[in-house]
Amino acid sequence: MQPSERAAQLRAELHQHNYRYHVLHAPIISDGEYDRLYAELAALEEQYPELRTPDSPTQRVGSDLSDDLPKVPHPAPILSLSNAFSADDLRRWQERNARLLLPGTSLAYVLEPKLDGLSIVLTYEDGVLVRGATRGNGEVGDDVTHNIRTIPSVPLRIPVDPARGQPPARLVVRGEVLILKADFAALNAEQIAQGLTPYVNARNTASGSLKQKDSRITATRRLTAYLYEIVVMDGGPDLESEWQSLDYLRTLGFNVVPQAQRYDDLEAAIAALPGWEARRHDLPFEVDGVVLKVDDLAMRRELGFVGKDPRGATAFKFPSEEVTTRLLDVTINVGRTGKITPTAVLEPVFVSGVTVSNASLHNYDLIAELDIRLGDRVLVKRSGEVIPYVLGPVVDARQGDEAPIRPPTHCPYCQAALVSPDSAVDLFCPNVRCPERVYRSLEFFVSKGAMDIEGLGPQTIKILIERQIIRDEADLFNLRPQHLEGLEGFAEKKIQNLMAAIEQAKTRPAAQLLASLGVDGVGSTNAQALVKYLGSIDALLEISTQTMQRLDNFKRLAQPLLNVRSTLFGTAQEVARALTRLEKPLSELVPSMREAVGVDDVAKRLSRLLKPLYDVAPAGAPSLEQIAESLWQLVQAIAPLTRLAGFGPTLVASIVSWFGDPERQQLIAKLKAAGVVMQSESAQALSDKLQNLTFVITGTLSQPREQIEALIVAHGGKVTSSVSKKTSYLIAGNDAGSKLAKAQSIGVPILDEDGLRRLIEGT
Ligand code: IVH
Repeated sequence: MQPSERAAQLRAELHQHNYRYHVLHAPIISDGEYDRLYAELAALEEQYPELRTPDSPTQRVGSDLSDDLPKVPHPAPILSLSNAFSADDLRRWQERNARLLLPGTSLAYVLEPKLDGLSIVLTYEDGVLVRGATRGNGEVGDDVTHNIRTIPSVPLRIPVDPARGQPPARLVVRGEVLILKADFAALNAEQIAQGLTPYVNARNTASGSLKQKDSRITATRRLTAYLYEIVVMDGGPDLESEWQSLDYLRTLGFNVVPQAQRYDDLEAAIAALPGWEARRHDLPFEVDGVVLKVDDLAMRRELGFVGKDPRGATAFKFPSEEVTTRLLDVTINVGRTGKITPTAVLEPVFVSGVTVSNASLHNYDLIAELDIRLGDRVLVKRSGEVIPYVLGPVVDARQGDEAPIRPPTHCPYCQAALVSPDSAVDLFCPNVRCPERVYRSLEFFVSKGAMDIEGLGPQTIKILIERQIIRDEADLFNLRPQHLEGLEGFAEKKIQNLMAAIEQAKTRPAAQLLASLGVDGVGSTNAQALVKYLGSIDALLEISTQTMQRLDNFKRLAQPLLNVRSTLFGTAQEVARALTRLEKPLSELVPSMREAVGVDDVAKRLSRLLKPLYDVAPAGAPSLEQIAESLWQLVQAIAPLTRLAGFGPTLVASIVSWFGDPERQQLIAKLKAAGVVMQSESAQALSDKLQNLTFVITGTLSQPREQIEALIVAHGGKVTSSVSKKTSYLIAGNDAGSKLAKAQSIGVPILDEDGLRRLIEGT
């Protein structure tokens, strides 16, 4: 094929893919495949400049401008990068450059990770951050100053250390905004804890967060910025190399990747590439390659640009981790908590070094949201250690015979009807005795991070369950040598060791036992907090039992009101909202009563929340006062849990429903009977000296605030965040500010730490 024909063909294909990606939001090839076509066209045009047409996709400056943010012009074009996919591509790149430089010039290179985030441009005047913008179309960007200011790694003033001298009069720097892998995981854990759908992709989440109108939202998204390029500098030192400028950026206090490397020549850089690729998943951020930059800045200026790409830098792209393949089936995975996870069965496909035939589909909400169908071509990502997952369907590749995926109604292992608890997105198998759940629970229970019982592998557990020797965690502690005799691989010595390991596991700290039980949301951190504040697993049991009883009472009482739903046709939205509140008291009502101090207070708050419902309530429905009384009972029963910092409604509901379940209570009793320790060593005796008292803590105290809070909570008191007439005492440390003033003005008594201790001791 003639180069001109091939170029025309590539242009046509790229136009199609561009349209599908940007307009239809339905790409049919992965980013990697797109990059390859683009690179081929760019190389052709470089070789035969006459083939470069004005409508060539290479002539388009990519734009990510959004409609509703103000625009700002950039002081210099914000360039993009050409791509290289092989060592030979890099060698050809250097050869082309060498032809433009004096013969015999040798080039050194700086290699940086290519961060998979969003390009930003920051402007500092006299050391003060005055503007932050996105790349936009390279000439004009979206003004996102308000959001940039929320990013902790962006200095608001430079140099961050004033001892580092004067800042340049004006400095424009470029960098990348992203979400670190660990922060993304934490962000998703929060989403899940709140019953919200987790984010699929860190880059898109970062991008969406930066373009928020409301910067309070941006502030919660854990963004990080790395800076890598000086765009404009007035005043400041003379910088001769990329390496020096990275160093200077660091000196000013910018976050600069510590992983950058300098190589004396291209072959040295090329030799290092396999190592970079092998370590890509060990980096704290997602990368899609590395960037090679000519170190000498004078030479980079001399090399100039082709189109929108500087010649002096190029991106070496790692092989894509995204591929498309066909979704053949969806299987259902049942976890130890009963959580149902849909798993994709894929037409086997090779991606980043392995053949993938299964991938996670997260949950059924997401399947519906992304409209993934059976038989669809789907985009799959496999990245590092994480389980491969489906990013979404390729809508344009549909044949018409794809079938919708419906959430299951029953557990495939035990046929129990699935449930979806208050405010959770996931479906659960509620059957504690479900064989799959028992197997998964035990597998987890004995594992290293949990009770750490060595010598009991998944296979053995399966056999022991099959033979009905163990049916739950407690049965493990009643295991006798004769149960194991004759099992494959269990010689006498091994049986002895296992018996000893089981005996030892009985004395694990209570928090470790708690975390091993597999209560949804209770990992080691939360388990420690629970044991610390409540003293024992028994206390948890008591709280949960009482809560579940009172929850039953509440639901029974509220039923006549809930019946409104069936009598009203086309129920008004506010009424529907009130009904939901009443129906899901743990997630919808209890949280709004956190600050309530008594039944009257609950009634007042409740009347606001339920007003629309009472406007249409039938005669004979329970009165608001009755409902309020029942709710207040519930609020008090569950208070020891809702008072704990970081324990949101979903988590609290998950805890009380676990420990409130009679089957679980039997399990705990069995564990205890088998001699398993249930108390924390430093069991805090709960006193009720501070019962019915509400505290606000302010100022600097002799110990961390959480500890003072724990002390108050352990003695039955309550801690809230703002001072009001209902505050019993303000605990004031040093440098107390507005809260102290407020307490004084409304006559709330003020105590110091000693005063609090005296109150607890009753002196
Ligand atoms: S240098 C003239 N360095 O990759 C310099 N870019 O594919 C141009 N990127 O738009 C950019 N990490 O948003 C450079 N260490 C790094 C980078 C980097 C990520 C992004 C940047 C650019 C895109 C080009």
